[in-house]
Amino acid sequence: MTEATQGQTEGKTFQPRVFSGIQPSGGLTLGNYLGAIRRFVDMQNAEDLTGVEKIYCMVDQHAITVWQNPEDLRRNTRELAAGYIAAGLDPSKSILFNQSQVAEHAQLAWIFNCVARMGWMQRMTQWKDKAGKNQQNASLGLFAYPSLMAADILVYHATHVPVGEDQKQHIELTRDIAIKFNNDFGVDFFPITEPVIEGAATRVMSLRDGSKKMSKSDPSDMARINMTDDADAIAQKIRKARTDPDALPSEVEGLEGRAEARNLVNIYAALNDQTVAEVLRDVGGKQFSDFKPMLSDLAVAKLSPISTEMARLMETPDEIDAILRKGADRARAMAAPILQQAYDIVGMIR
Ligand code: TYM
Repeated sequence: MTEATQGQTEGKTFQPRVFSGIQPSGGLTLGNYLGAIRRFVDMQNAEDLTGVEKIYCMVDQHAITVWQNPEDLRRNTRELAAGYIAAGLDPSKSILFNQSQVAEHAQLAWIFNCVARMGWMQRMTQWKDKAGKNQQNASLGLFAYPSLMAADILVYHATHVPVGEDQKQHIELTRDIAIKFNNDFGVDFFPITEPVIEGAATRVMSLRDGSKKMSKSDPSDMARINMTDDADAIAQKIRKARTDPDALPSEVEGLEGRAEARNLVNIYAALNDQTVAEVLRDVGGKQFSDFKPMLSDLAVAKLSPISTEMARLMETPDEIDAILRKGADRARAMAAPILQQAYDIVGMIR
């Protein structure tokens, strides 16, 4: 992170701080892992970020913007925490907790509901996709979702948010909310947050349709790899993944117009910590019948240890809950003074 990107407003440089979150609204996918969790772990371990707080949340209040069965929500929250830890997040280095444990998120979100404009929310593609044709029947929470997301980030004065490509618009809205709050009240209080969208797999696509994002809500399980899939399931899904009949190119330009081929190469590159160009140097000229077994061996080798560890952690849910409670205490200690200052700025008597 360079100085110029440290969440600067015109007059003030903020301490760098990292925040991100994932919804516990179903199982974790390879998209969540490559687009988000791997980046969380990289940032946790980056030497140049020593001393920077990293805060990673399970955003249960976002999950309930669409119906969640209570038992499933509890289980999915713990499973997400297990996924974070199994993938390499260390609760002594990163702060892990679930959103509803730190009330300050929802409290700041209310202020932001009064700063943000209806028109801003209406333009959000996630709102349009999720609410579909029947917007009148969507929850009010789903509409206000980006305002809560801005509060998640800004209640910590977070400057950097690692996310997949699909969250970019929400981070831009977070910046708009910070700017409007600062302008409305004539302060330099909230930082202008930077999205961190990096790596070969910022947008992992469906295995069945290269024009659609890989998603936990896709009706077809064959479209995604779940972090809890076993080796046979992973191999079968990759074998059946849609491709075209041509051999793989040896140059990146050769993937132009070949969405499915590009997706599989991106996944390979991300799993193997290589660039797409490096992968194509090795596999250019191969048919998919040769490349797919390589990809499935790699995916199994990288993902199986994580799913095994997740299953082990899930045997002791009390330990997961204790980690989250401790994380929430640390998070609250950071969020509470920032919320209080925001209340002062707005004119609320304490
Ligand atoms: P969510 O739960 O949909 O996804 C969690 C993270 O995974 C990334 N992701 C992907 N990346 C690459 N390819 C894919 N196919 C793919 N699918 C998902 C997402 O970009 C995201 O980084 N609104 C957020 C959660 C949230 C949040 C926040 C994030 C709430 N508050 C504050 C950052 C900061 C969401 O719905 O992510």
